[in-house]
Amino acid sequence: MNPATLPDYIECIETGLLPAWQLLSVHEHEPVQVLALPAPWQLLGCGNYAAVVVHPDYPDWVVKRYAPGRPGHAQEADVYRRLGEHPAFSSCLHAGADYLVLRRIRGKTLWQCCLTGESITARTIADIDAAMVWATARGLTPHDVHAKNVMQHEGRGYIVDISDFYKTQPCARWQDFKRIYDWLYVPLLRDDPVPLPVWLMDGLRRCYRRWRRHKRHTV
Ligand SMILES: Nc1ncnc2c1ncn2[C@@H]1O[C@H](COP(=O)(O)OP(=O)(O)O)[C@@H](O)[C@H]1O
Ligand SMILES: [Mg+2]
Repeated sequence: MNPATLPDYIECIETGLLPAWQLLSVHEHEPVQVLALPAPWQLLGCGNYAAVVVHPDYPDWVVKRYAPGRPGHAQEADVYRRLGEHPAFSSCLHAGADYLVLRRIRGKTLWQCCLTGESITARTIADIDAAMVWATARGLTPHDVHAKNVMQHEGRGYIVDISDFYKTQPCARWQDFKRIYDWLYVPLLRDDPVPLPVWLMDGLRRCYRRWRRHKRHTV
């Protein structure tokens, strides 16, 4: 974005978007709900803490707003500052009271790739591995890297959600994802992908969460 247009974009966010945009987070393990979103803003995605929208006049930038009661936007801005510039990550242009302006990443999350039957490439997996090495070298701990926080665009991989990289305890989610990718996805789906139903994906997600909780209590 031309730096001269940033004040206009912020004005557009503060006066046109924020007053009419209503978010609700009922449970911290389920996606936030968008109760109202003013035109012409479009919803790109919802995480468990925040929702992300784009305006057609500023297609290369997005607004990530945290739902009421869900903290973390200032920490996320700080992680972007520590991360520096890397092609597999977004960057943060501005931090408002409960939102961030981020560079838009195109493509689909790996979750959406499974739902639509788009093949997840080995190159995407390698790009995410390299991005995690970069983050570690910058003193951060890659955390919560999973199918909804990673995107693929033209066969390359991007990490869209770095909000938990400030945490210091290790996280096995990407290693677990790669194990399923190698054992199941590559032999069954990579070269011949089919759209997977949402009930199957949600079922897998819930089973995985239960298994992780069980593992935590038994080690
Ligand atoms: N920079 C971005 N560009 C495009 N889409 C994004 C970007 N950041 C997030 N998204 C979309 O919004 C969704 C929710 O964002 P995310 O950062 O994961 O929120 P949360 O911190 O609540 O998990 C993502 O799964 C993705 O679909
Ligand atoms: Mg997320």
